[in-house]
Amino acid sequence: MKIVALFPESVEGEENQILNTKKAIGLKPFLEEKGHELVILADNEADLDKHLADMDVVISAPFYPAYMTRERIEKAPNLKLAITAGVGSDHVDLQAAGEHNVGVVEVTGSNTVSVAEHAVMDLLILLRNYEEGHRQSEAGEWNLSKVGNDARELQNKTIGIFGFGRIGQLVAERLAPFNVTIQHYDPINQKDNEHSKFVEFEQLVATSDAITIHAPLTPDTDDLFNYNVLSKMKDGSYLVNTARGKIVNTDDLVELLEAKHIQGYAGDVWFPQPAQADHPWRTMPRNAMTVHYSGMTLEAQQRIEDGVKDILSRFFNNEPFQDKDIIVDGGQITSKSYKTK
Ligand SMILES: NC(=O)c1ccc[n+]([C@@H]2O[C@H](COP(=O)([O-])OP(=O)(O)OC[C@H]3O[C@@H](n4cnc5c(N)ncnc54)[C@H](O)[C@@H]3O)[C@@H](O)[C@H]2O)c1
Repeated sequence: MKIVALFPESVEGEENQILNTKKAIGLKPFLEEKGHELVILADNEADLDKHLADMDVVISAPFYPAYMTRERIEKAPNLKLAITAGVGSDHVDLQAAGEHNVGVVEVTGSNTVSVAEHAVMDLLILLRNYEEGHRQSEAGEWNLSKVGNDARELQNKTIGIFGFGRIGQLVAERLAPFNVTIQHYDPINQKDNEHSKFVEFEQLVATSDAITIHAPLTPDTDDLFNYNVLSKMKDGSYLVNTARGKIVNTDDLVELLEAKHIQGYAGDVWFPQPAQADHPWRTMPRNAMTVHYSGMTLEAQQRIEDGVKDILSRFFNNEPFQDKDIIVDGGQITSKSYKTK
């Protein structure tokens, strides 16, 4: 079979990274010894289209996605499987995949702790005004009044978690020792747990001092945090988004940060990815943005490698995938998290 995989370009001397064109999460020997062809791509838009006609499997990570649009799926008659080397399969048109009998599977759980830790870090960075303190340190400044003016404690704040699945629950567990009030909204998981109380979406938005987004990108969440919702957040509140860039409206966020209605925004997800050099979120006020790597720790990369190999082995042996990993199967979107209302 012909397997096409897109990976970020490798860099000389960075030997720990396995999710790149050089190491390709160990897929080269793994596939070649089984007699399959592996094509490794480094540039999505330029290269992917050349292989659509005869590829059987496509593999890419959400950090550096191969956007499998309806158009591309329709030009790939042999395509049977799209594997997400990580978590979050919105870069594949799931509806079109179902219609064309392309299975979509991901390595569910592979990087959930990594992302949860990153979200907690982002909340601290924003509330403690870390970016300004660090900027002054590098710039040779010592302007304590300027940094202190917006430095706050996390304790006693109300933190809203939007999307209370694997990552959302890990975030709640990790935040609990900070003595915060935690509340969540999730259309499917409406139960309270020991750390967090379920509230309706409007209440989450209106009463949280900071919101952290952990829902998938679906037609329901696409552009949900637009002017209408952002302007209803508490004046001076914070927003963290390690889920998907498209859940937040690019220009509306910039406008409300400039107006100081939103005090700070952090996260690592953009649309499209890689983000263009002049993307407004790179330079908007009080941002703590990073490139998409929260789920790409070295530990997570190893789990992704193991998970992708497990998925491929099951596929070649005609064995069922693990239920947790299946997003689209038998022509249907079967994952609860991706089913829309
Ligand atoms: N930044 C990264 O590196 C990174 C890594 C992993 C996952 N992610 C993103 O985080 C998302 C969540 O990952 P997870 O492992 O917790 O997934 P999960 O499937 O365990 O949880 C997602 C939760 O979101 C809820 N949800 C679905 N639609 C919703 C809506 N309209 N409003 C609110 N909640 C909704 C689901 O009911 C579910 O409980 C992924 O879909 C992915 O987009 C990002």
